Amino acid sequence: MTGSSPSFRPMETVTLPRNMLTDALGRRISYLRISVTDRCDLRCRYCMAERMTFLPKDRVLTLEEIALLADLFIARGIRKIRLTGGEPLVRRDITDLARRIGRHLGDGLEELTLTTNGTRLAQHADDLYDAGIRRINVSLDSLDPDRFAHVTRNGDIRQVFEGLRAARSAGLAVKINMVALKGINEDEILPMIRWCDSQGFDLTLIETMPLGDTGEDRTDHYLPLTQVADMIRQHHPLTPVGHRTGGPARYHSVAGMNARLGLITPLTQNFCSDCNRMRITCEGKIFMCLGHDDHVDLKTAFRTGGLGAVEPLIDRALRLKPAKHDFQIGKGLQPAVRRHMSSTGG
Ligand code: 5AD
Ligand code: SF4
Repeated sequence: MTGSSPSFRPMETVTLPRNMLTDALGRRISYLRISVTDRCDLRCRYCMAERMTFLPKDRVLTLEEIALLADLFIARGIRKIRLTGGEPLVRRDITDLARRIGRHLGDGLEELTLTTNGTRLAQHADDLYDAGIRRINVSLDSLDPDRFAHVTRNGDIRQVFEGLRAARSAGLAVKINMVALKGINEDEILPMIRWCDSQGFDLTLIETMPLGDTGEDRTDHYLPLTQVADMIRQHHPLTPVGHRTGGPARYHSVAGMNARLGLITPLTQNFCSDCNRMRITCEGKIFMCLGHDDHVDLKTAFRTGGLGAVEPLIDRALRLKPAKHDFQIGKGLQPAVRRHMSSTGG
């Protein structure tokens, strides 16, 4: 040490460890969401169009390719991975992939999670637990079978209930994701909190985001969560709690309940300043933000030059991370991006 103050370190001497992913704004990126397929067996109205064209198989990464990329991202500092889609459980051998990535748990990787619509959870819950997954998010926008069928354009809620039972007996902690939709499920928000509490689940409410064309006008169903929170407070006082799960949800405890309530508020309360996330699509594109088109394509580099060719592209992607998304919702406004949530991964 020279005579300078020990707390002073000129910028040039601060070298971040190579295995730390940090963007141009200094945000530490430690959370990777991997969309393993753009396909889904449901067609939720806020997410997809009724007639969707999905990617042909040869454009989608193989499970082995995804596993190798996950190895590299973990080596570069990713600490949490979420498998998502589309619906990840429609991909054959998905539990093999989970097991393969799960080998890193406790050795670089701190947590492996999954987001699912629950329809095929009954078949996979035990295997997911064996792979090292301990928490899952299950999307469920209504408890009423007819309404569920309406929102999902023909889904069968009994499969989801069966999946949830299987998840519980496998030992998986469950958080329900509910997209708040004016005129569709707003009257079910209180019943949903109470139901989640009775089942031992947490609940996260999500504002509908303008991603991709769904053939319907989202403006009609947009419900600001500021308004929803005020409504809930009239029945159950809410207290913000510090609990974080690495995602954008801000959590509240609900008076008289064990269930925690998370609020994901892309439109009413921006959360981008502490975003720690990056996403990789099933086609091998890195998106640094759900709400921007900028991306880096890894697949060609990977297929021609292997993982060595991918590494510099990760650094290029980091530089692309924008300060914030530009979501806006309103009459006549086009979606911020043309991709659906199902192609980038929720
Ligand atoms: N806006 C908000 N939430 C969405 N989801 C899918 N598409 C949208 C959208 N356009 C939800 C799903 C899932 C989570 C990952 O995101 O319901 O629970
Ligand atoms: Fe499928 Fe999830 Fe989109 Fe619904 S929200 S269509 S379950 S990917």
